[in-house]
Amino acid sequence: MLAELSPALIAEVELAAKLLTTRQHICILTGAGISAESGIPTFRDNQTGLWENYAVEDLATPEAFTRDPKLVWSWYQWRRQLVADKTPNPAHTALAQWQYHTQSSHQSLTLITQNVDDLHEQAGSTVTHLHGNLWRNRCSQCKTAYQDQSRGSYHSKDTINFDDTLMTCPHCDSYIRPDIVWFGEALPVHAWQTAEDAAANCEVFISIGTSSLVYPAAGLAQLAKQNGAKIIEINPNPTPNTIVNITLAEKAGVIMPLLIQKITAL
Ligand code: APR
Repeated sequence: MLAELSPALIAEVELAAKLLTTRQHICILTGAGISAESGIPTFRDNQTGLWENYAVEDLATPEAFTRDPKLVWSWYQWRRQLVADKTPNPAHTALAQWQYHTQSSHQSLTLITQNVDDLHEQAGSTVTHLHGNLWRNRCSQCKTAYQDQSRGSYHSKDTINFDDTLMTCPHCDSYIRPDIVWFGEALPVHAWQTAEDAAANCEVFISIGTSSLVYPAAGLAQLAKQNGAKIIEINPNPTPNTIVNITLAEKAGVIMPLLIQKITAL
């Protein structure tokens, strides 16, 4: 795998590793790109199959749920089915190993994700979710938590019955929805506080697999930069993030194991 990387990129990885071993407070923000190599499509990928005529922005909003709750619920049922059998890839695993390693070192590492999958947890990481959790449900009105969906009840070969009746809240009779932050909705207060504190107080901020288009999460790198942090970005494609100090333009599943190997060896 190393042989496939250009000497220039390997030099950048070494630079990033040196920077990371000499700093104490690290904040990491991950996005859909880190789960891409596990087989979960990103949001900027075109939707496929049944959903190819829908834009994510037309399904993941409170207005869409009010307009057509069954459509939005069905889309999440489909996404749950898509994610159910996916497992962490080398990027998730490397991050979990690094987090474990820092427990016995001088470093503090805060991992924040925009992803609603649980691949970081499956890999063994402790992570703060900014955009909710695909497997949880709550009432659309009174917000009371409702029973979680069990991953085991979704099998990729089963056909989802889109005529399923929607579940309703035992307290207020409103529809149950996935516990996910939709476009236009506020982020969970505690999670956002954790993210802001970690970004404002870190010395290095690492952005992995995010298009840096969706705020407020995209503003965390700027907050870190304003407070003197260096910014590392890992993404095979360019992003509008203009404040990056080190760009590692490759897949996270290629870069992260190499980077962590170099950090833990230094
Ligand atoms: N490794 C690293 N990055 C990758 C990889 C990979 N293997 N494959 C794709 N990417 C990058 C893409 O180049 C893109 O910049 O991942 C990014 C994914 O971008 P988005 O789909 O916009 O995902 P994200 O930034 O997480 O979206 C933010 O938008 O739809 C909302 O709430 C949703 O959390 C989501 C938010």
